[in-house]
Amino acid sequence: MAILRICHFPDDPVLRQNAKRVSAIDSSIQRLIDDMIKTMQEANGVGLAAPQVGVPLRVIVIQMPGGQPMAIINPEIVERTGEQEVTEGCLSVPGYIGEIKRSAQVIVKGRDRQGKRIKIKADGLMAEALEHETDHLNGVLYIDHVESRDKLHQVERPIVPECEHR
Ligand code: NI
Repeated sequence: MAILRICHFPDDPVLRQNAKRVSAIDSSIQRLIDDMIKTMQEANGVGLAAPQVGVPLRVIVIQMPGGQPMAIINPEIVERTGEQEVTEGCLSVPGYIGEIKRSAQVIVKGRDRQGKRIKIKADGLMAEALEHETDHLNGVLYIDHVESRDKLHQVERPIVPECEHR
């Protein structure tokens, strides 16, 4: 497993691309998932999307604090309900956190790393992470959801884990 370079806004245009669906879950996708998990763990993130490591494919990995890492291929948010106010950061936007609104609950469909269809119902931090990472696949960053400049804050630590709650 390799630790991959994390792309940064605004220097890496891949972060603004619409990522392509994965058509075949082959060994290159398995290797990408392994490397993304390693990279996420090394950065203390709770999630990572393939465009963040320069790969414009619809693959995300998520690991809740104290939980096991999981990968979702071609994730689609099929239902969003409620609202939660969160303070979020992103490994691709180091040095900042922002106050934004996310859905309180989401239902996501996709495939796991074995190619099996999965359906995940989540709330709280998991719902936030699923929205944050799926946004990355559409070229959207959390800063796009920050409604005003006073809700975006500079932080001293240069790297803020993906979707960290404070
Ligand atoms: Ni992010």
